[in-house]
Amino acid sequence: MNTPILLNLTTRPEPYPPHVRERLELDAKEIITRYPHPRSALLPLLHLVQAEEGYVTGTGIDFCADHLDLTGAEVTAVATFYSMYRRTPTGDYHVGVCTNTLCAVLGGDAIYEALRQHLGVSHGETTPDGAITLEHIECNAACDYAPVMMVNWEFFDNQTPESAIAITDALQAGHQVRPTRGAPLCTFRETARILAGFPDERPGALDGAPGAPTLAGLEVADQDSTGDQR
Ligand code: FES
Repeated sequence: MNTPILLNLTTRPEPYPPHVRERLELDAKEIITRYPHPRSALLPLLHLVQAEEGYVTGTGIDFCADHLDLTGAEVTAVATFYSMYRRTPTGDYHVGVCTNTLCAVLGGDAIYEALRQHLGVSHGETTPDGAITLEHIECNAACDYAPVMMVNWEFFDNQTPESAIAITDALQAGHQVRPTRGAPLCTFRETARILAGFPDERPGALDGAPGAPTLAGLEVADQDSTGDQR
């Protein structure tokens, strides 16, 4: 007997209320004018709608499609390709534990498991208080500080299960938490708006220099090239 193919059809998304759409249209216009072709603004526009609702909804997809002369299918294809666009509601703090190879063997798997048990949520889920969404994430090009954890895409270097739990406890208690480098944390929605291309006005957001582990390879290369010249 043939297996039936079930289609999960949903209703059309509700458009944004007029006052929200009006505000988003001003932001979208500012973003789109930065690009030679409107469709090139899709990635920041997806961050913009993610900033509105905490994830990319059907309403957000329709909004992007309407303003960039794309189909909903084209926008959906992009939104579901990149993991920074979330398709389910997100807590105030998106906690991503790198479980890619180097971080995993240096403790990333243990950190993820400790947080999963401590918070009582699994990959992609949010704590009941709406504070934290836990995910395991791929390499964030910070292997020199492995194992790393990211909160709203800010780095927390050289973590342990204990330090990671202390960070999530502080976040759930509403305390200000500073990443190892970069600016003080803001909420996931505020982060999404910055990623849409609006100014990052947090103190120290534009500061920072590469740390010693990052420069170690360069120093070795410098020493080798000096030795070659001798
Ligand atoms: S493997 Fe974790 S940052 Fe590269």
